[in-house]
Amino acid sequence: MEIIIQPTADAASRVAADLVAGVMRAKPDAVLGLATGRTPLRLYQELIARKLDWRKIRTFNLDEYVGLAPDHAESFHSVMWTNLFQHVNIDRANVHLPDGQTRDIAAHCEEYEAKIRAAGGIDIQILGIGTDGHIGFNEPMSSLASRTRIKTLTGQTRRDNAPAFGGEAHVPKHVITMGIGTIMDARQIVLIAFGDAKARAIAAAVEGPVAAITPASALQLHPVVKVCIDDPAARLLQRSDYYRWVYENKPS
Ligand code: F6R
Repeated sequence: MEIIIQPTADAASRVAADLVAGVMRAKPDAVLGLATGRTPLRLYQELIARKLDWRKIRTFNLDEYVGLAPDHAESFHSVMWTNLFQHVNIDRANVHLPDGQTRDIAAHCEEYEAKIRAAGGIDIQILGIGTDGHIGFNEPMSSLASRTRIKTLTGQTRRDNAPAFGGEAHVPKHVITMGIGTIMDARQIVLIAFGDAKARAIAAAVEGPVAAITPASALQLHPVVKVCIDDPAARLLQRSDYYRWVYENKPS
């Protein structure tokens, strides 16, 4: 894991954007794994501003709420089109998100996995992290080997996401999410997190034991993970001085 601590969320988003843009330039038909939520919005703005070529880029999003129509304002379909896809020259046929309205969830999840495989696997996966340590919507105690499937959200996650829905009662209880095993298959992973509210989850994910109680801790077993965080999110890291020193003294 490379821990990249930046003074602000904007600076950390720029570092993440450099990583994604680098993959897109090196491989014009790269497969991007994308996340929603508040955290990646600055990264998406940065990618839009860079006027990259998205014509052949393929994308797979991590997750979607069960029961929400794609045109629901809070569906991850809508969030992605509003915040990224409509601003770039991506081919609609290359955009993939789980279908929250599928009638056969198990079959749909298997098909989603098959589509990722058929695309050649994910080249770079963007991740946020929940305050409870989830990645995708793999809540605590998700199997570290899990594949795309239905999951039940924790009360904490539903409370965290309540503002967007105008209250916790309106937050769906179930989601379809790539599994931790699916995420771990990506060739490269970029985890981004900002703000004090993420400090505990980041410390547990980066420095805690690898354990299903902190799903993001599984990333310690992945060979190419960059963790791009701001100072407040780094607050509880025991070895933050070392991570900063490593980043400032990278071999040329
Ligand atoms: C969203 C996702 C989630 C979020 C996490 C953090 O696709 O997979 O893991 O990344 O819930 O959400 P924010 O960024 O809103 O704090």
